[in-house]
Amino acid sequence: MSHRIGVIPGDGIGHEVIPEALKVIAAAGVSLDTVDYDLGGARYLRDGVVLTDDIVEEWRGLDALLLGAVGTPDVPPGLIERGLLLKMRFDLDLYVNQRPFLAPDGTHDFIVIRENTEGTYAGEGGFLRRGTPHEVATQGSVNTRMGVERCIRYAFDLAASRPRQHLTMVHKTNVLTFAGDLWERTFTEVAAEYPSVTTAYNHVDAACIYFVEAPQRYDVIVTDNLFGDILTDLGGAVSGGIGFASSGNLNPARTGPSMFEPVHGSAPDIAGQNRANPVAAILSAAMMLEFLGEIDAGARIRAACAETATLVGSTTEVGDLVVARL
Ligand code: IPM
Ligand code: MN
Repeated sequence: MSHRIGVIPGDGIGHEVIPEALKVIAAAGVSLDTVDYDLGGARYLRDGVVLTDDIVEEWRGLDALLLGAVGTPDVPPGLIERGLLLKMRFDLDLYVNQRPFLAPDGTHDFIVIRENTEGTYAGEGGFLRRGTPHEVATQGSVNTRMGVERCIRYAFDLAASRPRQHLTMVHKTNVLTFAGDLWERTFTEVAAEYPSVTTAYNHVDAACIYFVEAPQRYDVIVTDNLFGDILTDLGGAVSGGIGFASSGNLNPARTGPSMFEPVHGSAPDIAGQNRANPVAAILSAAMMLEFLGEIDAGARIRAACAETATLVGSTTEVGDLVVARL
C-alpha cells in the first residue's frame, strides 16, 4: 500500500535536498503517492499566498508531509516562519519536535524532544505605543498543563523504549519560576509512572556546556520550544554539522499527518549550486518512513547514511552514494 505524502520543497536548497530524499525512498523500495505543494517565500513573493486553511484541510487526509526548507531574504522576518511553518505545527497539532543526534564517531547518541506548540512561540504578546520613545513590546511564554504533560509523557515513553532509559529535563527553573515550576512539577509527577527511567535536570545554560564537553551524558532530553530550538542547532553542530540534523514534527495522537523536515534552513547563500548536504533531508525521510511503520526501510536508509560525515561530494553525488549503499 503506498503512502500519501504532501511534499513541500520550499525555498533555496529545499529544492535540492528533497529530490535526493525522494530518490532514496524509492531506492529503498517504498512507494509513495506524492502531492506537491509550492509554498514558501518564493510563492509568497509571486502571489501573496503563504498557507491557506483550505490547504491545511487537504493535508488532514494525507499520511505525512515532507518539507525541505522555507524562507527567502527578501521577505520580512516572521512572515513565512509564522504563516507557514508554525501554522503547520499549530493547526496540525504537531506537539512533539523530535530531533536525534548521533556523533559521527559513535561517542554520543541522544534525542531532543522539543515541545512544539507553546512557549514563546505561541504568539502571545504585542506592542504598546509602537514607534514612540515609550514603546513596549512583550512576548510571553504560554505553558499549559496539558501541553507540557503530553510532551513530557512522550519523552518518558521514548526513554523507556531505549536501552539506557534515561531522561533529562532542560529548563531555566531558577529564573523562569512560573513556567519552570509547571514543567518541574509535571516532570516529577509523570516520572513516578516510569520507575525504570532514570531522570536528571539541567539548566539550559549548563546544558550548553555539556552538549559541547560531555554529550555522552544524554539519552533523551525534554525541553520547551525555544530552548529546544537553540539546543538542537548546537546538537547539530556537535554531531557532524547541521547538514546531518533531521527532525520530525509529530502528532503522536495521529489525529492527522506528521511533518518531517531537516533542522537546517533554506541557505540562500549556497542555493542552486548542488552543494547542500542532503543527508539531513534523507534522515528526516527515514524518520517519516519509520513513523509510517516502514521500520525496515527506515533502518536501511539510516545505515546507508552512516559514515557520510567523512564524504566530500555534491548534493546529487551524496544522494547517489546513499542509494548505492542501500
Ligand atoms: C527550526 C527553525 C524554526 C523554529 C524557524 C524557521 C521558525 O529554526 O525548525 O528549528 O524556530 O522552530
Ligand atoms: Mn531552529
